[in-house]
This record gives sequence, structure tokens and C-alpha cells, in this order.
Amino acid sequence: MPFKKVFAWGAATAAYQIEGNTHADGRGESVWDDYCLRTGRTKEGQSGDVACDHYKRYKGDVALMGEIGLRAYRFSVAWPRVMPEGRGKVNEAGLAFYDHLVDELLGAGIEPWLTLFHWDYPLPLYREGGWLNPDSPRWFEDYARVVVDRLSDRVAHWITLNEPQCFVGLGLLAGTQAPGEKMPTGQALVAAHHALVAHGLAVQVIRSRAKKPPLIGIAPTGEVGIPATESADDIAAGRENHWAVTGDSLFNMAWWTDPLFKGGYPEQGLRAFGSAVPSFPEADFRTIRQPLDFLGLNIYHGNNVRRGPTGAAEVVARPVGDPRTHYAWPVAPGALYWGPKFAYERYGVPIVITENGMANLDWVSLDGRVHDPQRIDYLTRYIRELRRAADEGVPMLGYFTWSLFDNFEWSDGYRYRFGLVHVDYSTQVRTLKDSALWYRDVILSNGASLGAGSA
Ligand code: GCO
Repeated sequence: MPFKKVFAWGAATAAYQIEGNTHADGRGESVWDDYCLRTGRTKEGQSGDVACDHYKRYKGDVALMGEIGLRAYRFSVAWPRVMPEGRGKVNEAGLAFYDHLVDELLGAGIEPWLTLFHWDYPLPLYREGGWLNPDSPRWFEDYARVVVDRLSDRVAHWITLNEPQCFVGLGLLAGTQAPGEKMPTGQALVAAHHALVAHGLAVQVIRSRAKKPPLIGIAPTGEVGIPATESADDIAAGRENHWAVTGDSLFNMAWWTDPLFKGGYPEQGLRAFGSAVPSFPEADFRTIRQPLDFLGLNIYHGNNVRRGPTGAAEVVARPVGDPRTHYAWPVAPGALYWGPKFAYERYGVPIVITENGMANLDWVSLDGRVHDPQRIDYLTRYIRELRRAADEGVPMLGYFTWSLFDNFEWSDGYRYRFGLVHVDYSTQVRTLKDSALWYRDVILSNGASLGAGSA
């Protein structure tokens, strides 16, 4: 069965990973600009200063999207471009960039899906405590209002936050991404909570002010618990693992998504974090729990899980030499079946795959083309699994591959190439990879060219 008639076949990017021009036209600084300057933080000290120079090349880039036949494009707005200090003064030039980008997309028949925050937190606000500051949700609300007032006559699809698991969990608790802090757990939970309140306030702003009827979601991530077999026991074990919250990290799904849809933190998480959990005002949970039109999921892989002999859900060790992407993530197509399935089962909300893809060792071959058969195979397997979920009744609104371009992969610099489009960073020459041409056929056939069968 093909996908729904109106299905958002897209690709995704994020501002800091592609725009470059970090000092142009009054853009302020973000925590990522600062982090990249610190010795040893990113690979070879690389930064997003130039990246894909998309800020200047956006017209050609939209033309490339047209060649691929994208129906939708997910991008993020850089908060520091729009408000250089993070609050107060609005930078017209920064806002105008997104205005022009949106027009260009619509002119090419591509639906803009706008992410308000994909990690480039304004540095001046971080210096005032960032997400720990009780005013931080209001700062985000004010920023959201500026973007909504300017773009909501043309933008209908909104994503508030990208992967809070990373910008709080990795950025503030594990310290492996900007701003690189290792806060005590209790503090990180406060930051997490404020990010969720910020989400709720932004949803209210979008609902109440958008000129075009909005569809609003959020894009969390997580490793999917994939049942090792389809026995009832293993399915239950996969589900348990999928939603598990352990006390040692914020890299899980339920701590973030339960408050959005159920209005409170998951019991298991409250037990696991124990006395580290601060007491939060009840009213916050009403703000956080806003009706959403979809749940975005950034899904790359997962763990095989079975019901072990002691009754516990246990992760099955992977066989030696199992298939891995260049990023070393396992190839686990079942993640795109079980991830949406478990999410829909728990929350009953339509699902969008807001990111999925792989890093590959791509280069321009002697024939001038970029051959990436692994990516084609990977995407085929994954999207077939997604179709299986859709066939079984999970309402799927769209699929965005990560990423449109090779780009700045955060702490890993330019080492990993995730794009459908190859970017030569010294010349800025773009080359459509074989996977881009393959994806064009998938889109044109609305998934029929994927062939029958599952992974
Ligand atoms: C994410 C990250 C992306 C990464 C991608 C590959 O949203 O996961 O935001 O920016 O580049 O996931 O690691």
C-alpha cells in the first residue's frame, strides 16, 4: 500500500549546521559559536562559521530541493539571527532571510516546516543562566511571537524544540555538546522543565497568533526498543525498554513526552531520579500539556530487546560484525516500525518522522557522481518499515530524511556526511548523490518504488 495521498516527503536541516555567515547582518552569538572556539571541543576546532554557506546560497539550494522533488523542507530558525541578544531588539536582516527562504520554498511548491529551536541558544541568555533561569520560558515565548508574527501567513507547520534530550541531556548534563556543562542532575532537571514550559508557551503563541491554521509538533529523539521477536513477551519487553527512564541520563523518551501528552513526569522516572527531582508548580504542567497536531520523532536506530530468563527486559547483544553506518550506529530498520507504533499506542497522536538517515563515506567519484548504495539500501529498509506501521493504522503525516546536505555535524565537525547532496566544503560545489535521485523516484511514486516487503 502506498502512503497517504498527502504525505510530506521531505528532508531536514538545522540553521547552525548549514547557514554559515555567523557574523553576517547583525546575527548574535549562540552557545555553539562559543563552544567551537574552545580547544578540543569540536573535531579539529571546526565550526559552523562557513558550513554550507546556505545563508547566501539559499536560492540555488531551493532549486536543488526542486530537482529532488521534495514536497516539504524542515529547517530551523537561528534565534540569534532574529534576536541578537536573545531578547529585546529584533534584527530585521535576520528575519528577512527566513522570509525570503519561505517565499522561495513556496514558489518551488515546497511546504516549509519550521523548527523554532535547533540548539543554537543565544549566548547572552546563556550567560544569564540559560534554561536554568526562571524567565527562560518567557524569553522563548517572546522569540516565538516574533517568528510567528512574521512568517505564519505562509508557514503552517511548526516544530517547537529539536531533541531536548540533546541540548539539555548532552549539553548540560553529559557535557558533550554545547554549552558543555556537567550540571548536577537536579539542575539539569530544572533546565529540562523550563524547556518543556517554553514549548508549551510557544504552542500557545502559535495557536493564538498564527494567520494560517497551524499544525504544531515537537521533535524529540531516542533509541527505539525493538522487540527481538514478535512474541507477545518480547513485544512487551521492547515496549518497556522503549519507555524506560533510568536515573543516569536524560537520553530517554518518556521524561520528555509524557508531560506533553499526559501532563506529568513518568512514575518510573520520578523513582529513578528520586530526591534529585525538584518540586515544580502544578500550573506548569497545564502549560506544558498543550494539544499537539503531531509528534515528530527523530529516529536513527534502536536496540533489540527480549524478555530475559529473569523476566526483565534485556538488550540482546549484537552479533560481531553487524552492519553499522559510518557513525557506528547500527542499521536497525525495525526502529521505524516500532518507534511510531509505540508512540501512537501511548499518546494517540499522528506521527511525523522528523529525522532519519545515515552517515556514509561519500566522495565524488571519477565519473563526477556520488555513489551511495548503502544509503539507498538503508533508507529503503527503513521506509518500508515505516510503511508497515502506516499500513497497520498508525497515522503518518510525513517523513524527513536527515539530511538534505552534508553539513556541520556538531562536535564531530565535518567528518560525517549525512546528506542526500554532497557538499565540497572548499568550493561549495553541490552534487546530488545517487540517493537523491533515488529519493526523487520514491517521492514521485509516493513510496511505490520502494517495492514490496519489509526490511
Ligand atoms: C538531531 C541532530 C541533527 C544531527 C543528526 C545526526 O536533530 O539529531 O539534531 O542535527 O545532525 O541527528 O547526528
